[in-house]
Order: sequence, then structure tokens, then C-alpha cells
Amino acid sequence: MIEHDFDISFIGGLALQEKQIQQNYRPIIAVHKWFARRPGTLFRGLLLSEFVTEPVSQSFYRAHDLGGLRIADPFMGGGTPLLEANRLGCDVIGHDINPMSYWIVRQEIEHLDLKAYREGADNLLRELQEKIGDFHRTQCLKCGSEDAHVKYFLWVKTRTCRNCESEIRLFPGYLISHNRRHPKYVFLCAACGGLTETGNRKQPGACSLCGEPLITAGPARRNRCACLQCGEINVYPDPEAGPPLHRMFAIEYFCPACKPRHKGRFFKTPDPADFMRLEAAESAWDSLQPMFIPDDEIPSGDETNRLHRWGYRHYREMFSKRQLLGLELSCRSISREKGERVRNALATNLSDLLRYQNMLCRYDVMALKSLDIFSVHGFPVGLIQCESNFLGISGANGDNVGSGGWSNIIAKFVKAKSYCDRPFEILHRKGRKLVVDIPGEWIGDGNTTSGRPGSRKVELLCSDAAEANIEPGGLDAVLTDPPYFGNVQYAELMDFCYVWLRKLVGRNVPEFAKASTRNAMELTGNENMGRGLEHFTEGLSSVFRKMALALKPGAPLAFTYHHNSLDAYYPVAVAILDSGLTCSASLPCPGEMGASIHISGTKSSILDTVFVCRSTGRVPAKWIVDTPEGVAELIRMDLDKLAGVRNFTATLGDIRCIIFGHLIRLAVWNLRKGWDGSLTVARRMESVSRWVSAFGGLTSVEHLLDDVLSVSPALQNVFSREPQTSYGAEDGQISF
Ligand SMILES: C[S@@+](CC[C@H](N)C(=O)[O-])C[C@H]1O[C@@H](n2cnc3c(N)ncnc32)[C@H](O)[C@@H]1O
Ligand SMILES: [Zn+2]
Ligand SMILES: [Zn+2]
Ligand SMILES: [Zn+2]
Repeated sequence: MIEHDFDISFIGGLALQEKQIQQNYRPIIAVHKWFARRPGTLFRGLLLSEFVTEPVSQSFYRAHDLGGLRIADPFMGGGTPLLEANRLGCDVIGHDINPMSYWIVRQEIEHLDLKAYREGADNLLRELQEKIGDFHRTQCLKCGSEDAHVKYFLWVKTRTCRNCESEIRLFPGYLISHNRRHPKYVFLCAACGGLTETGNRKQPGACSLCGEPLITAGPARRNRCACLQCGEINVYPDPEAGPPLHRMFAIEYFCPACKPRHKGRFFKTPDPADFMRLEAAESAWDSLQPMFIPDDEIPSGDETNRLHRWGYRHYREMFSKRQLLGLELSCRSISREKGERVRNALATNLSDLLRYQNMLCRYDVMALKSLDIFSVHGFPVGLIQCESNFLGISGANGDNVGSGGWSNIIAKFVKAKSYCDRPFEILHRKGRKLVVDIPGEWIGDGNTTSGRPGSRKVELLCSDAAEANIEPGGLDAVLTDPPYFGNVQYAELMDFCYVWLRKLVGRNVPEFAKASTRNAMELTGNENMGRGLEHFTEGLSSVFRKMALALKPGAPLAFTYHHNSLDAYYPVAVAILDSGLTCSASLPCPGEMGASIHISGTKSSILDTVFVCRSTGRVPAKWIVDTPEGVAELIRMDLDKLAGVRNFTATLGDIRCIIFGHLIRLAVWNLRKGWDGSLTVARRMESVSRWVSAFGGLTSVEHLLDDVLSVSPALQNVFSREPQTSYGAEDGQISF
């Protein structure tokens, strides 16, 4: 049972490692971007601790067959819990309201003939190479070869001066490369546009071409930019003027001939031939009758309004002509692919490629690579944009050079689907990472894999999980990761890909009938759609009630949750209480990526709480406490377990999340008898809030942990405290 057998130190350690570089642990995620994917290792840990008797640290690296069990995830998103259950042999049922989620999980699980896929992909690359390969070449400044590959074209936004009508280039700065990945700093000259490499960032000296002094700060700042011709201050963005215009000003390229003798990267200013290639690409685009470019308008929304402020009205306006040409030709080639699964796989690839092939991608001047449009959970519009080589570049050893092209997408997709046939785990031993094959396990629908039994059922549904129709008592577990109130606008973001995918394959996919993935029943807070905390609570409650009915008696509903404010946990308590389940555990587990913490300072938290709920069962008696002192002791115990997690230091925010988890668990425990689900949602939330306040709230527990909380970031010494005195007998159990 999870309550007793989930090993926080072991699973926490794996989950933390996984979240550093998730693709190394779960390559399957590379099938297509999805937001806020939870660690797969966490859900494997939950399944094994529930259904396998030996300790998780032993069962984890062995193959299992849990055939016959039926597991559901009502909010499947990128599919993490379902993939883990499917891999262990379970039948799975997944729901998600977003058609993109439905599609992505289907592509992840469906068996794919990799040989046929490779042929299809080679074919596509060959066609693109023939038609547009030349548009991504440039002349090497060192050896003069015309065969160097452009890695990235750098563009700056421009506008027309409202006074003198000259073109203003909205440079926020002129430093285009730091000296980390390249031996020197690279500056663009404000006067002549040439590039100069220098070792001194503070005093870069003079332009090596025109002799003018090099400067770091550009003219564009805080939505204002002076015209260099007449001095007029111009304001940007200017939505009335239409979508932003761009000018290509630099190129980072790759010369295979020079690379062995060259240190660092290759930069150049575009030469006349580069502009001619650009013009050729643009006129090739102008003379095409596009068949696959979506016409969809960008609806207004919490995230998309930023696009409107920049003058973007249609999705297609977010691409350069060269990108549109490449995308249209790719779609044409994909649509001619005969094999349905290969065609769908390539269409999925195209959809994922879009996030690197648009004019919102930025150039990371430290790492010297493209930042895709979803590198944050919004649509950030910068002033400098980065256009990656559309085809991608293969280096001498066959590895990809640079990012964001077709060959990058294909390589990671092949890895992802190979992992389905041969899943593995990573074992950390003596500072080394060992790849441990798990022969006997596989991810798939079991219908077509050669020599495999076809008994593994996969049911994926694109629908509101509140409408789920699962027969009562049909489930052995529900494992899920519900949306966190107000966190990510899945639909607004995913529409960017959806409009393309729908145009390409939508005719044969009933789930793609609607023009947008937005749905009034999506469970996120959204100002634009007038959805607040009550909508979220009602929705979560409906889904939990459905799931509780579908579960066998005593079977677990386990889910992750993460938020920095206690209020955002009330819906969780209400939903559990409405469903008639009891919360039998709240377990901390690292879940957010260290680098992606968007809330700065001590409030940030990388811990998820795993809530375990059942209709009936037993909880360790020591967990049922009735004072803040009792909760504080539980927190100390959790922290002791987390101390076993390598490289993890609990922050104030992390500790808060653990406190929230226990407070919500206890609120459910205490409120379940006499819970009145017929009260208004506001009253039900109030009941939870009142219970938590009467208990003493967050502060009462925090006071008791002053010694822990006052220790600044280096919290390690907290973990080596004396063993805790226990409340009640160590192994006492309470039935419910
Ligand atoms: C946090 S995500 C799940 C992420 C997933 N566990 C993973 O690791 O990739 C939550 C999902 O809930 C979905 N969702 C929101 N409201 C829903 C509803 N009413 N019914 C079904 N799914 C919904 C969202 O589309 C989103 O994919
Ligand atoms: Zn060269
Ligand atoms: Zn002017
Ligand atoms: Zn100059």
C-alpha cells in the first residue's frame, strides 16, 4: 500500500534527478511538448508501492506484469501516469479535455514501426533538402566554402519612424554572444552593423570594421526607441501597424570543413548572397498556393492578449516567409505518406517543430541556442528573434549541430519510440549513472507489436472528465495530476500547434472537430473566460466524485498537487470530501524542475504533495494528530526522509507545501463525518477554510518550526537532528 510502502527518499531522489533532464529518464516525453509533466519515476513508485509487495527500491529495477489491473487518469495531459501503468501491463483509461493531449498520448502509446517511420522521415528530409536546403546555406568567412550551414538567423524587430519614415531597428542591446560557449564576446556595431569579437565586455573598444566605439545598450528600452535619423521617440509595440516586421542582422553558422581547427562558434553579418537566398525563399513562398497554412485568428485570452498587443491577429503571422515555405512543403510531403501511423507520427513531429520554427523564438546569448516559444508558459515577445535552420544539421559523428530543425525533432522522436520497445531505468551508483534495461516491460497498445500479446487495453478519450462513464467498481486505481488552479493556460498555448495539426490530419480525427482546444469546462482559472476558484472547485469535485464511484472499494485515488498558496488547496479538500473518500496520506516528492521555478526567493518550491485517498482502509495512527505541534512533528519526519534525497535542500516554500499537504489531509479526515455536499461551493470551501483556521492555520505550525525555517538556504544541518519522539505507537493503525 502506498501509505506504508512509498519510499520518499528513494522515489524523491529519482524524481529529482529525472526533473533535471527528463528526457534522459523518460525519453518518451519527446514525442511532443506538453506543459508541466510530472516525473514518471514518481508514478512508477506509486504503482509499485501499491501493487507489488517487495520494497520499491528493489522492485523498481525489475520487470513486472500487472496485467488485469485497470488504471485511470482523468487529467492525462502529457500522459505520465498512464504511460507508467501501461508499461507495467495495466489496462488504462485516460481523459483529457484538450484534443492535443488526447493526440499526444495516443502517439506516445500507439505502437510504431520504427523502420517505416525512419524511411518516411528520410524521404521528407530528402524532399526538403532538394527544395529548400540551399536557403539555409551560407559562405564561410574562414575558408570561403559555400557549403556552410546556417545554424541560426538572428532578426531584430523594426518599425517605421512616425516622423521621418526611416526604418528603426529596435535593438535592446548589441552584445550577441557571451564568452561562455565562444572564446570571446561578440558585439554588433551600432554604426555599421559589422561584428567584432573582443575579450573585454565592459570596454569593448572600437568596431574592427568602421572604427566607431562599440556599445552594449541599444536604443530600445521600455517600449520606447529613438529614431537614429531624426531623434524622434517612437513607441512600440504598435498593434495598429499589423504584425511586427523584422530585419535579419546576423548569422551563426557551422562550417564542417573549418570546425576541426576552429575554436568556438562561427558568426557573420549576412552578406549579399545571404539576402539573395532570403529573397529567393520569399519569392518561392509568394508563388505558392498554400494548402496547409492555417487561417485561424488568434482569439483573445489571458496569454494570447499579449500577441494582440503586438499586432498579431492570425497564427500564420508568427512565422517568417522562409518558415512558412518550409512548413507548407513539409505538410505536403507528410500528407503524401501512405502509412497512417507514420503519417500521424510525422504530423506530430511537425506540430512539435512549430515551437522552434516561428518568429517568437529567442536567442540565448549565453548558451548560444534557440529558445523555443514555450520556454516559459506564455507567449513572450522579444525584440531579437532567432530562426533555426529548418532542416537541422548533422555533424561529423552523426549528432545534430544546433537545435530546432527537422533532424533534431526526428532524432529525439526515434529515441522516444525506441524507449517504448525497450524501456530502461537509470541507476545511480558511486556517482555514475547506469542504464538498466527492464526487459519484459514495454509501452504500447499491444495490437501490432510483433510477438506480443494483444491483451493490453488502452482507452483514450478527449472529453471533460466530469462526464466520464466508467462502470462502478471497475478501477483498481486512479492516478492523476490535476490542473493546478491558474497555473498554465494549456488550451491557449496548445492552440498554437493545434491549428496546424488540425489542418494537416484533422479530417480523419473526430476529436479535432472544434476550431480551438479551448473549452469552458477546462479546469484552470482564466480571467478572459471568467473562470475562478469556484469553477475550479466544482469541476474538480465532479471529476473526483466520478472517479470515486468507478474505484473498487478501498482502491486508491492518488494525485499530485502543487501551489504556493494555501487557498488553492481548499478546492482539493472539497473535491475529496464531496467524493466521499478519505485522505489517507500526503507525501512530499520533488516534482518541479529546479531551473523552472518561476516564483523567486524563499517562497519557491519544487515539492509536489502526493495525496492518497480511499473509501476505506487504514492509516498509520501517528499521522492523525490534532494539534499544530503534532503537524510540526510530522513535518520534521518528512524532512528527515527528504534529507535522504541527494542534492535536495528544502526551502521555506517547500516546507510550506508539506504543511499545506498535512493540513488539507487532516481537514478532510476531520470534516468527512457530517460533510454536507449539498451546500453551495462557497460554503463548502468556507468549511475547509474555517477548519484550517480553527486548527491554527499555517502560522501556528510555522512558529513551531522556527528553528528549521530560520536556517537560510543551507538547510542541510536541519536534517541531521535527533530522532523524533513519536506520537502514539509507531505502528498503530486507524481504520476508516
Ligand atoms: C497538470 S496537467 C496533467 C499533466 C500530466 N500529468 C503530465 O505529466 O503530463 C492537467 C490536465 O488536465 C486537463 N484538464 C483540465 N480540465 C479538464 C477537464 N475538465 N477534464 C479533463 N481534463 C481536463 C488539462 O488539459 C491538462 O492536460
Ligand atoms: Zn569554413
Ligand atoms: Zn525618424
Ligand atoms: Zn562598425
